Amino acid sequence: MSRTENIKFSYQEIDDPDELVPSDKELLDMARKAAKNAYAPYSRFKVGAALRLESGKIILGANVENAAFPSGICAERTAISNASSNYPGDKPVALAIAALTGEGYSDEIVSPCGNCRQVIAEEESRYGNNIRIILSSRKKIWIIEKGGDLLPLQFSKDHLRSALR
Ligand code: THU
Repeated sequence: MSRTENIKFSYQEIDDPDELVPSDKELLDMARKAAKNAYAPYSRFKVGAALRLESGKIILGANVENAAFPSGICAERTAISNASSNYPGDKPVALAIAALTGEGYSDEIVSPCGNCRQVIAEEESRYGNNIRIILSSRKKIWIIEKGGDLLPLQFSKDHLRSALR
C-alpha cells in the first residue's frame, strides 16, 4: 500500500508596512536598522534580524561574514544566540528579517536559510511556543505564524529520544 501525503502551510501577504499591527511594524523597523550593522564585505548582502522576547525585549542580529566563508553567520542566528546567551528563559515570540543591498532594501522577500530554520524550530520546541516570522522586501511583507512551518519534517529531539534512553 502507498499513499501520497501533503504538507501545506499558509502565510499572510501584506503590501504596506503601515498595515502591520504596531508590534510587527516596530520589529520590522528594528530589523531594517539592524541590517545596517551587518559585516558583509564578501556578499554585500546585509541582513538584519530583530527578535522579540516574551518580556518585550527586542534583540538584534546582523550577518557577520568571514574570509573563510563557512565561518560566517546569518543575522537570524546571531540574534537567537545573543538572546539565548543573555536572556535564557525569556522565550522568543517573533522574528523579523530584512536585507539591504546596494540598491536599498531587497527587491525579493528574504527567507531564512536551512540552518537558521533548524535553529528557529529548536527554539520553538525548547520553549513550547510558536515564533511569528515577519519576512520582508522593499515592497511586501509575509507573516508566517509558526517558524517550524518553514521546515517540514524537521529533525528534532524526538528523533534522539531512543539514543538518549
Ligand atoms: N544571510 C542571512 O544573514 N540571513 C538570511 O536569511 C539569508 C542569508 C546572509 C548569509 C551571508 O552573509 C549573506 O546573507 C549572503 O548569503
